[in-house]
Amino acid sequence: MILVTGGAGYIGIHTSLQLLHEGYELVIVDNFTNSSLESINRLKKITKKQFKLYHVDLLDKSALEMIFRENKISAVVHLAGLKSVGESVRFPLEYYSNNIIGTLNLCEIMKKFGIKSLVFSSSATVYGENNKMPVTENAHLSTTNPYGRSKLIIESILGDLYKSDKEWSIAILRYFNPVGAHSSGQFGEAPNGTPNNLMPFVSQVAIGIREELKVFGDNYTTRDGTGVRDYIHIEDLAKGHIKALSNILESSGLEAYNLGTGKGYSVLEVIKTFEEVSGKIIPYTIVDRRDGDIAECYADPSKAYDKLGWKAEKGLFEMCVDAWRWQKNNPNGYKNSNSKEEIIFT
Ligand code: UD1
Repeated sequence: MILVTGGAGYIGIHTSLQLLHEGYELVIVDNFTNSSLESINRLKKITKKQFKLYHVDLLDKSALEMIFRENKISAVVHLAGLKSVGESVRFPLEYYSNNIIGTLNLCEIMKKFGIKSLVFSSSATVYGENNKMPVTENAHLSTTNPYGRSKLIIESILGDLYKSDKEWSIAILRYFNPVGAHSSGQFGEAPNGTPNNLMPFVSQVAIGIREELKVFGDNYTTRDGTGVRDYIHIEDLAKGHIKALSNILESSGLEAYNLGTGKGYSVLEVIKTFEEVSGKIIPYTIVDRRDGDIAECYADPSKAYDKLGWKAEKGLFEMCVDAWRWQKNNPNGYKNSNSKEEIIFT
């Protein structure tokens, strides 16, 4: 059985769906602070498969240990964590506590039960500010905010853990900018309150929830002056987890992998593609740069291809098509859904 922490979240639900699709048996654990039971309902409905669900916080070590006692877990895909940069600046202690202590608890229990296979969700944010693009996994690591620092610290902890015991098998996945939604229109990103990230904000402007987009700076040294990022379709990202998982189940080691497409798009290019796909005008104004933003960030994803046989298949057009379908079908995210099904917690 595979344990997925944070399995009800945006990345978690797509990864869980893919795992079930590929025949893995699953235990999902989530504290539902930033995710919804409705995503789990839909997962059951769509896959028609059984899996176990625990409403448990990783900070609750004894509850977490119980999960390991009750299930024959062979590997963990660890996605649970807080993920907003801005929030992390306001609440650093919560970020360090949730992300770092949660991971320590998990690793300690894994060690206790002799389970040493782990996929960890990191972020391209660990590449900081001064790297040459496209960035490779051995680039200099640095970060400017508590969220990024929590990821970087965990990467170091996992490095030390592996050094202490070479039987561990750990894949660190550094995500670039996950966007889009499942092509069924049933799963997608459902931010609480005002979205911080570009794609959900653009979707909400297109549907009329928000009046206009603020473009953070048009004086970067990029082809049109706006920030360039490596957007990656959430389904491609989910598939990357499955490839990483099957790799760590076969061999020991510790490796970091970039999960990106290798191609960067500017903010204006994203707006233009979304307009094309939705048939809506996306009003925007140019405002000052956002603190902590860099001009461009895109991956060299060749290591993931060479070692895991994974590469992103979907381009910006499909990302926008799926994000738009999700937005139209679910204007309030997972809230106010008509589903009457009851979830039974394990
Ligand atoms: C952000 C986080 C990063 C995190 C990632 C998760 C910051 C500084 N970085 O990355 O740590 O791992 O999300 O997906 O928050 N933009 C606008 N207007 C908006 C929103 C964004 O112009 O309303 C621009 C940004 O300046 C940037 C691009 O769109 O150039 C992408 O921004 P965003 O989606 O927030 O992602 P990142 O900043 O790359």
